[in-house]
Amino acid sequence: MEQKRKVILDCDPGHDDAISIILGASKVSNLDIVGITTVAGNVEVEKNTLNALKVCDMIGLHDVPVAQGATKPLLKTREIAGEIHGETGLDGPELPEPSRAAIDQHGVDFMIEKLLHTKEKITLVPTGPLTNIAMAMIREPGIMANIEEIVLMGGGTFGNWTPAAEFNIWVDAEAAKVVFESGVPVTMFGLDVTHKALATKEVVERFSAIGNPVSNFVVELLDFFSKTYKDVFGFEAGPIHDACTTAYLIDPDIFDFKQVHVDIETKGEYTYGTTCVDLLGVTRKEPNVKFASELDQDKLWLLFDRALKSYSE
Ligand code: BDR
Ligand code: CA
Repeated sequence: MEQKRKVILDCDPGHDDAISIILGASKVSNLDIVGITTVAGNVEVEKNTLNALKVCDMIGLHDVPVAQGATKPLLKTREIAGEIHGETGLDGPELPEPSRAAIDQHGVDFMIEKLLHTKEKITLVPTGPLTNIAMAMIREPGIMANIEEIVLMGGGTFGNWTPAAEFNIWVDAEAAKVVFESGVPVTMFGLDVTHKALATKEVVERFSAIGNPVSNFVVELLDFFSKTYKDVFGFEAGPIHDACTTAYLIDPDIFDFKQVHVDIETKGEYTYGTTCVDLLGVTRKEPNVKFASELDQDKLWLLFDRALKSYSE
């Protein structure tokens, strides 16, 4: 059997972060989850950590360490997206208190330790602000050689927090700049493609029909998330932004890509946190990003069906 690919899921769960974890931990996944690190993003990092632990319990992921990371962005004050994810950061489903605590090691230290002492390279999968990864790169540049790829959800050619900036990048644009300029291969799932991963009524009905505890949990997550996306943005359904990352790692053929140069803007009332995606190559800069531009709906939802069904086995 092919060796599983080692990943660290760096997240702020978050409805779509939770769905990304569920996909990555399913039996159809080729991923070996070395750990889950949390970061301040959708809500305060303590809440995100609690949510990560609850999600792990829900899906029986008891052996994967959860390490709490940065409490605030590198330079900016902390801001949250409570409107989208609710007071707890994971409003909707009722989950019991977690059976375990986060490990007694900072998420950034965990990441550094794992990356320094690994035989195979590790892929980092950030689905929140990039603070932890930037901190790790600044503190221990020696980790860079052992990062296989950074597969992230963030940015796009338009914004959802300002007209130009997407939330994850906007929360900590300085951190994003460090990561995008690091020279490590970056695969980017921005709003251009994640808005196409809409969990429509039909998709939710498909998941409902599976009827195991994990698929039911995903349906509850999507019910809440779709409602806030309708209220806040007028969308017909919620986009499962973050789960595009794990979907790609399991089946890269779901997506189409363009090799482009992306710079991070760190100034301006509206432009702070913008990912300047040079689609036409006007900067003449070497591409530094594999930019996801399209997805295959059938393949994506089929993967989800298989993944959720695998929790019945
Ligand atoms: C991103 O922001 C968060 O609210 C979601 O979890 C996702 O990571 C979308 O802009
Ligand atoms: Ca997220």
